[in-house]
Amino acid sequence: MTLQFSLASAAPETVDTPCVVVGVYENGVLTSAAARVDGAADGAIKRLVESGDVTGKAATSAVLFAPAGIAAKRVLVVGLGPQKCFDAARFQKISLEAARAIGRLPVDGAVSYLTEVDVPGQDAAWRVRAAALASDYAAYRYTATFKPREKNGQPELAAIAFAAGEEAWPGLDQAAAIAEGVRFARDLANLPPNLCNPAYIATQAQAFAEANARTRCRVLDHVEMETLGFGALLAVGRGSANKPKLVVLEYQGGAEGEKPYALVGKGITFDTGGISLKPGAGMEEMKFDMGGGAGMLGTFVAAVKLGLPLNLVCVVPAVENMPDGDSYRPSDVLTSLAGLTIEVLNTDAEGRLILADALTWTARTFQPQAMVDAATLTGACVVALGKHASGLMSRHDDLAAELLAAGEATLDRAWRLPLWDDYQVQLDSGFADVANIGGKSGGAITAGCFLSRFVEGARWAHLDIAGTAWDEGRKGLATGRPVPLLTQWLIDRAAAAAGNRE
Ligand code: BES
Ligand code: MN
Ligand code: ZN
Repeated sequence: MTLQFSLASAAPETVDTPCVVVGVYENGVLTSAAARVDGAADGAIKRLVESGDVTGKAATSAVLFAPAGIAAKRVLVVGLGPQKCFDAARFQKISLEAARAIGRLPVDGAVSYLTEVDVPGQDAAWRVRAAALASDYAAYRYTATFKPREKNGQPELAAIAFAAGEEAWPGLDQAAAIAEGVRFARDLANLPPNLCNPAYIATQAQAFAEANARTRCRVLDHVEMETLGFGALLAVGRGSANKPKLVVLEYQGGAEGEKPYALVGKGITFDTGGISLKPGAGMEEMKFDMGGGAGMLGTFVAAVKLGLPLNLVCVVPAVENMPDGDSYRPSDVLTSLAGLTIEVLNTDAEGRLILADALTWTARTFQPQAMVDAATLTGACVVALGKHASGLMSRHDDLAAELLAAGEATLDRAWRLPLWDDYQVQLDSGFADVANIGGKSGGAITAGCFLSRFVEGARWAHLDIAGTAWDEGRKGLATGRPVPLLTQWLIDRAAAAAGNRE
């Protein structure tokens, strides 16, 4: 369940809530809401500043319990950092830390006035959406396979109201839909691979389609894919007892016959590397190797919840990569759905193999107006960009620009890498049309180049989310990226189409 979001219009000193949230800049400059609370509460916040208990450093916080003169039970004073270079990224970080601080308090609700601060270049709807999304992100708990330690019967945070005028309503609506999509993606990706196998992903997609209008789901099993010629995808799945599925969701929000947007997500439910076995340390993280598929399903969920006036398809090749007596092996030559032969030089470069067939099938079946794939495709992308930016590759400058802008607007950012023909020769093979690995250098790019051979001329972009799909460490959780970026992109596409019709 996502948090409940609403707008608040009452004055901060009179609002009736278990917790009112106000901001203080570095050097003790109070926001106007903080100043009003301070005035009503006889200088209680200024005293905290004078004593040094509140520094205003970004994302720090302090709690005032039941100060006289105001209606709220508590005041959470949140540091905003230096007023001068306050920007969108800082606003998001502060919103996240504020929600974490509220979550530690024994309250079920709060009213935040942080949405009243000025964020250069952004309006109230953006501020409310960013604050709501950050709050829901912070409130997320993984509970599918164990119960996290109880808060001793204390209430759980369930609702936050954000101070803003009516013009911020669209931001609230979008936040609710995107938050639902992000949660869908995080829940699916966090599940262990013994539960979340290809068949499970298929049932989740089917359940969503059954519960939502204008939406349908088809699942191709390995027998159908065999008949159709998915030679690359099926080779990857051969070592696993969990048979591959091609999960296909369609949403008709636009006119019948209008070309859809297509989302294709890598759905490797566990990546051992296969016969080119991965080292043991950290292998458990490869349960997140279906993060692209989860992200595309989450984006589909958000788009349907928003009722976007466009047609959309979401295709997830769901496959497990295991070593076995029947596994595919290095030096095998596969025939892909596109008809190109592929020399397997490493069975751990499996994501591009399942995507090759999925991209070809999607391009041929739907002739999409644009096709985007997301995949935890290469460790090389993590080396290049770290864990903050997804790698974006496209030959289509206009499509790349749309996606980069959507990433900026949601702070779910991507950074472009080239797909120049210069790199393609690294995939030359003496035994097939193409090799599945491109050597030591430029690994994220050569993986993108490999995919480019299978898109059948579609207007296509590739997002490598190997660094961004989950947080590091033993307790690292799925992030739900790139759901915000792609949902924003679709919102923008729908708005642009409406503008063109006028
Ligand atoms: N799923 C991995 C990529 C990955 C690695 C994502 C680490 C996140 C963290 C992918 O299937 C893979 O194994 N890629 C290989 C490709 C190589 C064999 C050319 C890699 O990146 O090492
Ligand atoms: Mn792999
Ligand atoms: Zn993989």
